[in-house]
Amino acid sequence: MNTIFESAIYESRRAVLKQRMQSGIALFLGNTEAPMNYLSNTYKYRQDSTFLYFFGLALPDLAAVIDFDENREIIFGNDFDIDDIIWMGNQPSVQALGEQAGVHETMPMAKLADYLAGAKGRKIHFVPPYRAETKIVLSELTGLKIGELKANASVELIKHTVNMRSIKEACEIAEMELACSIGVLMHRSVMKACKPAVSELELAGLVEGLALAKGNGVSFPVILSQHGETLHNHNHNLILKEGNMLLTDAGAEGLMNYCSDYTRTIPVSGKFSPKQREIYELVLKANIEGIAKMCPGITFKEAHRHAAEIIASGLKELGLMKGDVKEAVELGAHALFFPHGLGHQLGLDVHDMENFGEDYVGYDNTVHRSDIFGWNALRIARELKPGFVITVEPGIYFIPQLIDIWKSEKRFENFINYDKVETYRDFGGIRIEDDVLVTETSHKVLGPHLEKGVDELEEIMKK
Ligand code: GLY
Ligand code: MN
Ligand code: MN
Repeated sequence: MNTIFESAIYESRRAVLKQRMQSGIALFLGNTEAPMNYLSNTYKYRQDSTFLYFFGLALPDLAAVIDFDENREIIFGNDFDIDDIIWMGNQPSVQALGEQAGVHETMPMAKLADYLAGAKGRKIHFVPPYRAETKIVLSELTGLKIGELKANASVELIKHTVNMRSIKEACEIAEMELACSIGVLMHRSVMKACKPAVSELELAGLVEGLALAKGNGVSFPVILSQHGETLHNHNHNLILKEGNMLLTDAGAEGLMNYCSDYTRTIPVSGKFSPKQREIYELVLKANIEGIAKMCPGITFKEAHRHAAEIIASGLKELGLMKGDVKEAVELGAHALFFPHGLGHQLGLDVHDMENFGEDYVGYDNTVHRSDIFGWNALRIARELKPGFVITVEPGIYFIPQLIDIWKSEKRFENFINYDKVETYRDFGGIRIEDDVLVTETSHKVLGPHLEKGVDELEEIMKK
């Protein structure tokens, strides 16, 4: 099983970066192990995604530089000594690891500080660090205070990296297809095991176990809850109850750390009630039509608007909303029910590259973040390009606390029938999410088909 692409892939990515960056040195700090409760008892290791993208090595305690002025690429790390080998087995030398990534120059980690000190006033480019250990090391290496690091991150390096990583290569898409096929297995396992009296915890464990059995584990902590109205609900402490719906938002990482991200919402009893079915089919329509919009040239904001208008128009038919649908959506009235964005980029991270700052990933000089509630939650709004992989994940939620606030403020009274909304207070929430590749002319839904139609869901739940 491969855990790294051939070295030419990384050589070519670095060559593109070298061509685009003007000058200075880019510093890439790999992730260290993260201790759970004492130093040698660690969380599952996860390499930094930018390090993976340019160097492919999923091992702790590595760093790398690309020196744009001197055209040098160097990997820094320490070879295992006999004590390491006794406890953890042998490992290729740093030199041999470097060769896997097409990097021919390596040095012990202690030389990194000397190398950067020798840069003498040349710019050190780095992306914003998100782990405490990395912040400490970066602070020591650059002489910047920890609080100054984010503001001094290289916008140039961020922008070029985002531009490169947003366009997925064929080898990356193949990895994402694998991650999707694991995600499909995970969700089907829930569909088949879901029934009254089973615990959410048991299903969450089933999902996570499959992700670990087939790949590198889950791509983010499993969301599996009968309280689907809480968008990122990581509690699994309830017992499944007849009449409720179960929302599962979960994805896998393949062995090369590419991610999938799916959401399905199913009736615990195996059959949708008429009321559940009405809302479900509305979300499904927004999901299907949202996917249909995915093609080069459209802005994600327009796709989001389309999905929001489908939701608002359906809610109007059901008597929950009223007035002019386009105006309601433009002003943000739909966000009582659909407060998040239609999706996000997916790749080596489940929210791809979000560590750089969402605005660098999802916005550019043609589209700016709105300050209207709901619209402001769009993780991406910019124009789609061939090679983007994006999630499409509309939802309808009834969040009692939000309903109470809006109702007390009489917010959007001309668009929302609060009396009718009250009759849905305990409904919960529904989201349906798929992963979509934007192609040259259109799109392709990644992964095998994962049941989402009412009939096919009720059919698979019988099994
Ligand atoms: N990982 C949660 C979501 O964005 O779907
Ligand atoms: Mn998701
Ligand atoms: Mn998602």
